[in-house]
Amino acid sequence: MSDPWQECLDLCVEVTKKAGEMIREALQKDIAVMQKSSPVDLVTETDQRVEQLIISSIKEKFPAHSFIGEESVAAGAASVLTDDPTWIIDPIDGTTNFVHRFPFVSVSIGFTVKKEIEFGVVYSCIEDKMYTARKGKGAFCNGAPIKVSGQEDISRSLVLTEMNFDKDPARFRTMLANVESILTIPVHGIRSPGSAAVNMCLVACGSADAYYHMGIHCWDMAGGAAVVTEAGGVIMDISGGPFDLMSRRLIVASSRAVAERIAKQVADQSPEASAQR
Ligand code: IPD
Repeated sequence: MSDPWQECLDLCVEVTKKAGEMIREALQKDIAVMQKSSPVDLVTETDQRVEQLIISSIKEKFPAHSFIGEESVAAGAASVLTDDPTWIIDPIDGTTNFVHRFPFVSVSIGFTVKKEIEFGVVYSCIEDKMYTARKGKGAFCNGAPIKVSGQEDISRSLVLTEMNFDKDPARFRTMLANVESILTIPVHGIRSPGSAAVNMCLVACGSADAYYHMGIHCWDMAGGAAVVTEAGGVIMDISGGPFDLMSRRLIVASSRAVAERIAKQVADQSPEASAQR
């Protein structure tokens, strides 16, 4: 039987490439920076233009599909996942990197049907690395198959996470305590590339063994989640339970043993957790 979503995946790769070109061109010019929810939550005109390009190109071919885009949500659109075929879009994952010309900047798109991720595309556009994954068909970087390291020992692992300012003092302290808790296992090290989607792809191709993060959104996670899962990685909730795309937190790892050890080691610092306290 032919794949009902292959046409969508092909279009996704094509549009993502164009988006990456737009980002690279924008890097040659002055970048005007605006603030969103806080002085460290940044957006640029390029984020908005790239999202418009992606959504309008897809809508032309698939007008009945739904969209969740970072900048559309910032402008007031709902961020609700339904059973519809849905494109979950981060036009620039790593906006702070983009502003500083720090070279991990990606376009990330995940596609869900009945709330299940069918495929993901992450284009790390400065490195020119196009990661693609189709459910059940493996993960690729520039067309070559990729897989996770398979590392089972946390003490031999390189772990990725992101350290962001949080205006909630309790959450901020939990984030720092989590970093200490992981570092003192000890692990080989912690790195922070600055793009959630790239982080997942780094685990997917075996350059890092795990990544955990709380407080991110579905558009930061959807594309990379497909890539790392199809590369043989494990994805779970911070609690050790099943991953939920709308939960704002995740652990991905090269093996279940490493993922579960991280789940045991860290406390939940996500906004959802503090809202429940
Ligand atoms: C950000 C990146 C970054 C993470 C931030 C995210 P954005 O995404 O994924 O790694 O630390 O929390 O907001 O805003 O550049 O799309």
